[in-house]
Amino acid sequence: MQVFHHISSLRAELAKARREGKRIGFVPTMGNLHNAHLALVQQARRSCDVVVASIFVNRLQFGLNEDWDKYPRTLAADAAKLEGVNCDFLFCPEETEMYPNGMDEQTRVIVPAMTDVLCGASRPGHFEGVTTVVTKLFNIVQPDEAVFGIKDFQQLAVIRRMVEDLCMPVQISAGEIYREDDGLALSSRNGFITEDERPRVSQLNHTLNWVGEQIKRGRRDFLALQDEGRTQIEEVGFKVDYLEICNSRTLKPAADDDREMTVLGAMYTEGARLIDNISLEID
Ligand code: PAJ
Repeated sequence: MQVFHHISSLRAELAKARREGKRIGFVPTMGNLHNAHLALVQQARRSCDVVVASIFVNRLQFGLNEDWDKYPRTLAADAAKLEGVNCDFLFCPEETEMYPNGMDEQTRVIVPAMTDVLCGASRPGHFEGVTTVVTKLFNIVQPDEAVFGIKDFQQLAVIRRMVEDLCMPVQISAGEIYREDDGLALSSRNGFITEDERPRVSQLNHTLNWVGEQIKRGRRDFLALQDEGRTQIEEVGFKVDYLEICNSRTLKPAADDDREMTVLGAMYTEGARLIDNISLEID
């Protein structure tokens, strides 16, 4: 695997691959890689000739009181893991490479749809930071295909919308959610969960599944169902940020007759904010 810290050298190498007619796959990450990230690389590997991963802890998408400074940075271990799944190129730029003019004056990409609800409501500016950096990364790598995890359901939806609205010539693929045996979705932030909290955090996933089951059994009193779900999580000791039943496509509150719904949840542990979701299709 070749490692690049600079845009110009990565571009030069990718230009060669493109001239040879190779299909370029891309997996953007913030590092501290786990099996879910590696599965996205493997997914890109199956449909592309050249696979690029990026590691960049993008300060632009973190709020001022969020965990940018304590976000785990494990570059050497990450690079070894990427080698292990035959990633071809790793792009890991410094902040000055990505934001040479500073972040305040950085040109932004704003997706108005879907970004002021759910995670966007409690993390103002977050998705603007994501769409801006992903646009920059797409312009740097110019991939034919980019793979994102369904774990970040809203992020995936916002990126799909951005690509459609701005006619970006890239195919967006979705990677399934990877979980621990008890249902906890893998996340770089799981390292912030304490030993005492660990047996209880899977309640988020259990509750989302429970809500999904209730809908499948015919319940349509969504507001009451959301409240009951919230209570289940609070009862094991966590503060709920949101628990909402949404239309999978628009992320608006689900209507009784929607056929594709997603139940999304976010909760706070002592040291982390954890998110998860499950999607259902009603026949
Ligand atoms: P990061 O949190 O590192 O996630 C990188 C990719 O891995 C995202 O597409 C995310 O959805 C996926 N992922 C993480 N945990 C997963 C899990 N348990 N199952 C499936 N996929 C999972 O998301 C970001 O970075 C950033 O916002 C980024 C897109 C890189 C922009 O900075």
